[in-house]
Amino acid sequence: MKDKRILLCLCRMGGHEMKYVEEAFSDNWVVPLGPNVDGFEHDLERFLASGPSPTRLDSPEPGFTPTKEKRAVALSAGTAAIHLGLIGCGVEPGDEVMVQSFTFSASANPVRYLGATPVFVDSEPETWNMDPVLLDRAIADRAAKTGRKPKAIVPVCLYGMPAKTDEILAVAKKWEIPVVEDAAEALGSRYRGRCCGSFGRYGALSFNGNKMITTSGGGALVCEDDEAARRIKFLATQARESYPYYQHEEIGYNYRMSNICAGIGRGQMEVLDIHIAHHRHVQQLYREMLGGIKGITLHDNPSPVFDSNFWLCAATLDEGTHIAGENDAYKNCNASTAVSAHTDSKPDAAVEALRIALDSANIEARPLWKPMHLQPVFASSPAYVNGVSESLFRRGICLPAGPWVSDEDVERIVATIASSIRI
Ligand SMILES: Cc1ncc(COP(=O)(O)O)c(C=O)c1O
Repeated sequence: MKDKRILLCLCRMGGHEMKYVEEAFSDNWVVPLGPNVDGFEHDLERFLASGPSPTRLDSPEPGFTPTKEKRAVALSAGTAAIHLGLIGCGVEPGDEVMVQSFTFSASANPVRYLGATPVFVDSEPETWNMDPVLLDRAIADRAAKTGRKPKAIVPVCLYGMPAKTDEILAVAKKWEIPVVEDAAEALGSRYRGRCCGSFGRYGALSFNGNKMITTSGGGALVCEDDEAARRIKFLATQARESYPYYQHEEIGYNYRMSNICAGIGRGQMEVLDIHIAHHRHVQQLYREMLGGIKGITLHDNPSPVFDSNFWLCAATLDEGTHIAGENDAYKNCNASTAVSAHTDSKPDAAVEALRIALDSANIEARPLWKPMHLQPVFASSPAYVNGVSESLFRRGICLPAGPWVSDEDVERIVATIASSIRI
């Protein structure tokens, strides 16, 4: 009999999701507002204001300073949250926005929804997130070339790993440009003990089905205060002015979270700490088991300042590491949707061979995100690159993580990797 399929990452129900959903049905709150939406926002706000993680496995950074409680606005998607965050920063057609290149396309797409141009900034090798030194240079160059400053900065906490937040905020302060933190993958990650998503003028969270918690699909925008949250709620509900009749003076969006989805979210908040602890446990198992295997390096917290939730566990094949079958890896493309696996830039054959070996053992693995500056859809966008994200994309792979992955699963994954490596 074939081993069960191990999926990359999938949320698990486990709190009292049905109780909240049933309440919504029985009270006829089947609309995009209501007690679950309010309750979920409140739960998120409390969580975001909480101190250093109780589930951290290595030694925490001392000297945590609590943040003023932020406001959370529950929305239909993390992408919607980024979109509204950019509007909140005043992004308009013709503007430029500095965006981390090494990310999922949803970090950059909302810039284009607004008729603005994403300017991509490469990563530094420690966190794999936006390089603050390159960011500073890129902003100076944009200002010199266009005579205007970019309107916002979008750093990402990729795979849950916090960015070099102090340094990025210092650059943002120097240039007086607001930050929209893309913390879609980073609920429960902390930087200097403080939750990711709570540092910028806005922070975007995602509750898609594969994230730390799910509302089946959904997101939230973390805002600085009540006034900012009121403005975002207004924009998210078709910008309806407060008149007894329908009066519209601005373009609005239908982006509010449904009360049913928020009910799932309230139940999921009850198991968030358990999910975070499990992601960290899985990372710890990879640390122990991959640690003894030559040719592969696990992505990990660079120092105690960083406290990733390890949404996905990611690793890179060392230069010179070979994988059995790599000569044929791209010959027979088995991707279900691709016409061909060949583009100008793709993972090395060794990575594709490892992905195929894992897939044959019924284990889902994926290449790291393909940087945005390599994506045809963003070919006309300026990019400031240093080779880091291109090298990670060539050599990296995401391994299964999350609440469904057992200790035995990690053993099976690591055994498959070990038997595939040819140094
Ligand atoms: C880095 C990043 N940004 C933004 C998003 C968008 O979130 P959503 O799928 O909830 O729209 C995602 C996830 O899908 C993501 O991984």
